[in-house]
Amino acid sequence: MDTKRSLFFCLYLLAAQSISVETSPNLLNLMKYLEQPIGRSLFSRVSPRHIHHLEQMLFNASFCGHNLTLQTNSIQSLIFKLDCDFSGLSLSSATLANVPQAWAPHAMQFPAELTKGACVTSRPAELRLICIYFFRAHLFQDDNNSSLLNNYVLGAQLDHRPVNNLQKPINVSFWHNQSLEGYTVTCVFWKEGASEHSWGAWSPEGCHTEQPSPSQVLCRCNHLTYFAVLMQLSGDPVPAELQVPLEYISLVGCSISIVASLLTMLLYAHSRKQSNSITRIHMNLHGSVLLLNVSFLLSSQMALPTVPKSVCMVLAATLHYALLSCLTWMAIEGCNLYLLLGRVYNVYIHRYLLKLCVLGWGFPALLVLLLLVIKSSVYGPCVISFSSSQDNGTGFQNVSMCWVRSRIVHSVLVMGYGGLTSLFNLVVLAWALWILCRLQTQEKALRPWAYRDTIMVLGLTVLLGTTWTLAFFSFSVFLLPQLFLFTIFNSLYGFFLFLWFCSHRCYLDAEAKAEMEAVSSSQMTH
Ligand SMILES: *[C@@H]1O[C@H](CO)[C@@H](O)[C@H](O)[C@H]1NC(C)=O
Ligand SMILES: *[C@@H]1O[C@H](CO)[C@@H](O)[C@H](O)[C@H]1NC(C)=O
Ligand SMILES: *[C@@H]1O[C@H](CO)[C@@H](O)[C@H](O)[C@H]1NC(C)=O
Ligand SMILES: *[C@@H]1O[C@H](CO)[C@@H](O)[C@H](O)[C@H]1NC(C)=O
Ligand SMILES: *[C@@H]1O[C@H](CO)[C@@H](O)[C@H](O)[C@H]1NC(C)=O
Ligand SMILES: *[C@@H]1O[C@H](CO)[C@@H](O)[C@H](O)[C@H]1NC(C)=O
Ligand SMILES: *[C@@H]1O[C@H](CO)[C@@H](O)[C@H](O)[C@H]1NC(C)=O
Ligand SMILES: *[C@@H]1O[C@H](CO)[C@@H](O)[C@H](O)[C@H]1NC(C)=O
Repeated sequence: MDTKRSLFFCLYLLAAQSISVETSPNLLNLMKYLEQPIGRSLFSRVSPRHIHHLEQMLFNASFCGHNLTLQTNSIQSLIFKLDCDFSGLSLSSATLANVPQAWAPHAMQFPAELTKGACVTSRPAELRLICIYFFRAHLFQDDNNSSLLNNYVLGAQLDHRPVNNLQKPINVSFWHNQSLEGYTVTCVFWKEGASEHSWGAWSPEGCHTEQPSPSQVLCRCNHLTYFAVLMQLSGDPVPAELQVPLEYISLVGCSISIVASLLTMLLYAHSRKQSNSITRIHMNLHGSVLLLNVSFLLSSQMALPTVPKSVCMVLAATLHYALLSCLTWMAIEGCNLYLLLGRVYNVYIHRYLLKLCVLGWGFPALLVLLLLVIKSSVYGPCVISFSSSQDNGTGFQNVSMCWVRSRIVHSVLVMGYGGLTSLFNLVVLAWALWILCRLQTQEKALRPWAYRDTIMVLGLTVLLGTTWTLAFFSFSVFLLPQLFLFTIFNSLYGFFLFLWFCSHRCYLDAEAKAEMEAVSSSQMTH
């Protein structure tokens, strides 16, 4: 195009007061053509050529000013004129013209390094960066019919050069308003020719995925192409054949635990006379374990679609409360052992047990109630996927459970809380063992039996705390070994506590008998 015509073109543009639409009717027609839902069989052969053609036309398009925007219903093309003094470019759908409000926002940030490769050998007067945004992904279907976040494919290219291995990555942000629960998101790019039946496949090479906020996915990629966010059902879903055995094991395990806890508490009620603060704390722990197991059973059995949402919410909140108070009582066990062993003299704390109860039962209740008041939607049905290989490889069966849905609450108030209490108890346990070893070498301790008891309980609580934290590590990526470990340890735990209680009672009975015999024999000698 000669200068005269180009000038005329620009004047025409100014007169029309429009960015571009009239300048490139062919381009727009092509974009509109690409938007059409065309039969897949015909299309799979046609699309790459058309997309490459569109790229060519964008590189060749002549226009005034530094940038040009072309917009159709679901495709947006941008052209930027860059030079070798490029200092980086930040594009955001919030500042781009003509972006329909209904579309979820997106953004791209290009580093200054982008033009470096092109400027090393020669210094071209003008470099072109084109961006093609597809807001319907029908052109990018891979063999697996993978689903993409928002169905967005954001592409960018610099001149005709490949841009690879950038030191500073290109940032591509996708915002979304849909729930990603049960999905893992991966930033991917379209790799042409990587598949047999389609013209390309999605690949995560060179792209790094981050989720800075629940509604944003940030991709950092070291090359320029067509980017998207792949949504896949999380992790490796548990094989469907294991669903029934797992449910069965957890049902049996929880039931054993419940029965053992109940029995222990009944036995305790029967022998109330021998109670001291250590035993009472144990009983509270038993109580919270009982509540935990009951609510776990209920919330996994009751998360049916027919059950109202509010019921599921209450169950989830109860389960969370039970878990928190169980963890708190474990920490109290640790604290109590520290007080017992750490101080030589008996400390008297006014209404000790009442204060502990307020802490062990009240504090978790406060946390859960606060959460319910602030945002009750954190509790509700959670989905665990089971892949079913019988259903021709692609089927998924969903199992629901009433539990914490928010990732943040989950990581702070389940993993964080559980991790801290387990760590604390581990430290106290190690310290107590060390003290006991020292006592044993120095002299016969007064009553090491009580300490040893407590230490055993503490050891079990650490075990239990760890397994529960493991089990709740992430519900959507329920790892198989951890699931089995959890159910087995959990059932053993209640049983162990029960055995310990029995052996403790036997010991106390024997001791009482021995004392009585000693007393009677001393009376005999008198
Ligand atoms: C773009 O311009 C180049 C030469 O500058 C030409 O070879 C090519 O055919 C043009 N492509 C299109 C699609 O117009
Ligand atoms: C496009 O160019 C115009 C001026 O020509 C400028 O105001 C606008 O910010 C540019 N847009 C982008 C996204 O850089
Ligand atoms: C999410 O955004 C789409 C448009 O991008 C809109 O149609 C839909 O109603 C929104 N969904 C929610 C739950 O806000
Ligand atoms: C991408 O984001 C990171 C931090 O979020 C920032 O340091 C970097 O400069 C960004 N890259 C570009 C090209 O703007
Ligand atoms: C399709 O999915 C399977 C497994 O999920 C994977 O191994 C394969 O690479 C995928 N194919 C394409 C073209 O993405
Ligand atoms: C992908 O979708 C097409 C048509 O919608 C279907 O024929 C094909 O079987 C699907 N492929 C997979 C792996 O689901
Ligand atoms: C799996 O595919 C076979 C044919 O390929 C079909 O007969 C069978 O019913 C399918 N099974 C399910 C569960 O859809
Ligand atoms: C399972 O859940 C996934 C996403 O949560 C959904 O796409 C799928 O249709 C569900 N499957 C069944 C059988 O409900």
